[in-house]
Amino acid sequence: MLETLNEIETAALNDLGAINDAPGLESWRIAYIGTKGRMRAVMPMMKDVPKDQKGAVGKRLNEVKTALETAFETKQASLGDSGVAKQSGPMVDMTEPGLVESSNVGRRHIISRVRDELVEIYARMGFDVAQGPELEDDEHNFIKLNIPPAHPARDPIDNFYIDNPNEVETPRMLRSQTSTVQIRTMSKLVADGKQPPIKIVSPGRVYRPDTVDATHSFMFHQIEGLYVDRGVSMADLKTTLLQFAHAYFGDDAEIRLRPSFFPFTEPSAEFDMMIALKPGEDPKWIELGGCGMVDPNVLKACGLDPEEWSGFAFGFGIERIAMGKYGIPDIRMLFENDVRFLQRV
Ligand code: DAH
Repeated sequence: MLETLNEIETAALNDLGAINDAPGLESWRIAYIGTKGRMRAVMPMMKDVPKDQKGAVGKRLNEVKTALETAFETKQASLGDSGVAKQSGPMVDMTEPGLVESSNVGRRHIISRVRDELVEIYARMGFDVAQGPELEDDEHNFIKLNIPPAHPARDPIDNFYIDNPNEVETPRMLRSQTSTVQIRTMSKLVADGKQPPIKIVSPGRVYRPDTVDATHSFMFHQIEGLYVDRGVSMADLKTTLLQFAHAYFGDDAEIRLRPSFFPFTEPSAEFDMMIALKPGEDPKWIELGGCGMVDPNVLKACGLDPEEWSGFAFGFGIERIAMGKYGIPDIRMLFENDVRFLQRV
């Protein structure tokens, strides 16, 4: 009997040491000191103990019983209300706000913001957004834009061809201009059996193997505009550009169109705007892009009858506009991702 008591005490205290939650503790209580537990189970054995030993064994029984009950209470207190073992270190409230506000809050890149501002202004003038792939082919980048095979713009030296243009019939290339989206939009409209009006802008990346300097980069962004309907005129083009200039640069903004040449427009013009490149500096005429009336050959290449439909188109460099608006002197600052610059603009 004494041996059994010793064995129960050792096992119970061992088991209790390994317990760290309320359900575990409850199972332990039931197993050892509950009404059907092991302590209760040994009691009937008292009657078999020889008379002269009854006193000592009874004493030992009470000792073990008390020891186990005390150990149980101590353990229960250490687990606390939640039934989870108390941590020894300081408690941390993960939901408290931090002591110091983070000073490095990220934000969108200046090019993305300017792109969205431009799209938003044109959206107010009724232009939808159209997209085209950056991996293009020379059919969309050149042929249907009325740029003939021998044209210098198609020189492999000036383009990122993916296929060799001397070996492949329709070589793939990274688009060098967003004018490709004009072709895709008009051709799709015709393929879907629909008719103009088309009124879209298309912002996106373009690629040219230019040597990088303060105003050139091998990748930059353009926004293309296209409006095709019956009776669209050069006056509509100039009004649209002027409204854009006023909306983006303020009511004093001045614009000017200079006669120029693009294979896909006739007549064609270059579009300048009077902008101060640095705050406080005298404003200067800055060339923002090209524009003109969609060439009849381009309409025809997309399946539209130039006798019935006419349109205007324009294409600007987004970096140019961002640099003008935010007084950024060097295009490279837009791509270096120097945090000191990005936090300022
Ligand atoms: N695609 C021309 C370029 O990258 C810009 C341009 C000029 C776009 C005239 C046009 C346009 O839509 O009508 O230089």
